[in-house]
Amino acid sequence: MVSKKLFIETLGCAMNSRDSEHMIAQLREKEGYETTDDLKSADLIIINTCSVREKPVAKLFSELGVFNKKKKEGAKIGVCGCTASHLGDEIIKRAPYVSFVLGARNVSKITEVLNRERAVEVDINYDESSFAFNDFRTSPYKAYINISIGCDKSCTYCIVPKTRGDEISIPVDLILREASRAVERGAKEVFLLGQNVNNYGRRFSGEHEKINFTELLRRLSRIEGLSRIRFTSPHPFHMDDEFIEEFARNPKICKSMHMPLQSGSSKVLRDMKRGYSKEWFLDRVEKLRSVSPEVSISTDIIVAFPGESDEDFEDTLDVMRRVKFDQIFSFKYSARPETEAEHFTNTVDDDVASRRLTTLQNLATDILDEKNKTHLGKIYSVYFEDLIQDYYVSGRSDNNLVVKVKGSDELLGQFRDVEITAIGRTILTGEIVG
Ligand code: SAH
Ligand code: SF4
Ligand code: F3S
Repeated sequence: MVSKKLFIETLGCAMNSRDSEHMIAQLREKEGYETTDDLKSADLIIINTCSVREKPVAKLFSELGVFNKKKKEGAKIGVCGCTASHLGDEIIKRAPYVSFVLGARNVSKITEVLNRERAVEVDINYDESSFAFNDFRTSPYKAYINISIGCDKSCTYCIVPKTRGDEISIPVDLILREASRAVERGAKEVFLLGQNVNNYGRRFSGEHEKINFTELLRRLSRIEGLSRIRFTSPHPFHMDDEFIEEFARNPKICKSMHMPLQSGSSKVLRDMKRGYSKEWFLDRVEKLRSVSPEVSISTDIIVAFPGESDEDFEDTLDVMRRVKFDQIFSFKYSARPETEAEHFTNTVDDDVASRRLTTLQNLATDILDEKNKTHLGKIYSVYFEDLIQDYYVSGRSDNNLVVKVKGSDELLGQFRDVEITAIGRTILTGEIVG
């Protein structure tokens, strides 16, 4: 049988990447599709969309237009993911050449909608938690595993609960089985995914063993052959002592923590309904560093949330200076439909927002440059995952530094001790010493 070709573009977060892997798995198994990077030869074109900020949504329709012009005759275009969830059939109204719309919560129905004219499946309460997907992974070395779907929080700026629905934990036996299977196939690292991973166990869709995230980490770490466990995103509100202590104590848990701050101002955090204060956040960082001094900490920050004063923004800078994050992802606030903050009228002018973003990013770069110097001459255990240009191979240290060395694909999937010999902002260069 001649295989059909699938071109898939994935935007957004790691959960979307995993959803794309799930869709590819289903399409390969049931419909005989193979992936291609060449849009023009594709029989099926999928955009797996993100709607967390406004810009990518606006881009979607122009991109769809381009795809429609370039696609070969008879090829289908499907829109999946978070924008599909929140725009639904409006997408087909605005772009009538789109064959189907499939929400982020409904990706298991990919082969079904494919064969239904103008299908729209966007039910955000659809239960995917016990759905066992066929196996497909982009990387054989690292396995992304969903541990929960949806989100039960109500951060006032965020559209995700509206696109991914209520939070449901995946049964523990399914997670353990998926992790063991990935390890049997050669992965030494698992990357656990959820919008709120350390709220694991809050709700299951049926009668399942109820354990919390800390216990899930313990059980996963008993899998033989598994060397590293990473996860994203944990929520600062749920970072209790038990979790932080297990994080520090368990040698398989990578010493890299994402702590999405969003704002350093307790007032703004209240308006955002984040559930913690500046003091709580700083206290959790202190606790974490006291038990795990080598930990690297990354964060997400939104500037110019409605009502954010100069003083509030100073609080964010203050937290930045105190914590000295190893990596930040920073964004200007973007009003989203169906969120509480969409109706807030005390918005911040765009030029103020731009200025704050630049100030924040400059400070982050200064902190990073300062920190990077301390890596020079140090030795890290690096797990190699990617071949990059000029005969380099790259991987990550336990504390999430990206490191490259000269080498070939023989290094892929291997751990090596690497001495850092040169510093760059996004990647460090090193030499293998053991
Ligand atoms: N569940 C994660 C966040 C997922 S969304 C958490 O709670 O941390 C990823 C990031 O996008 C958020 O951390 C936030 O910084 C950013 N974001 C979400 N909504 C946004 C909005 N309306 N405007 C700007 N940035 C936003
Ligand atoms: Fe959005 Fe808040 Fe849920 Fe994160 S925890 S996905 S920011 S609602
Ligand atoms: Fe975007 Fe949806 Fe992820 S809105 S950030 S793809 S959960």
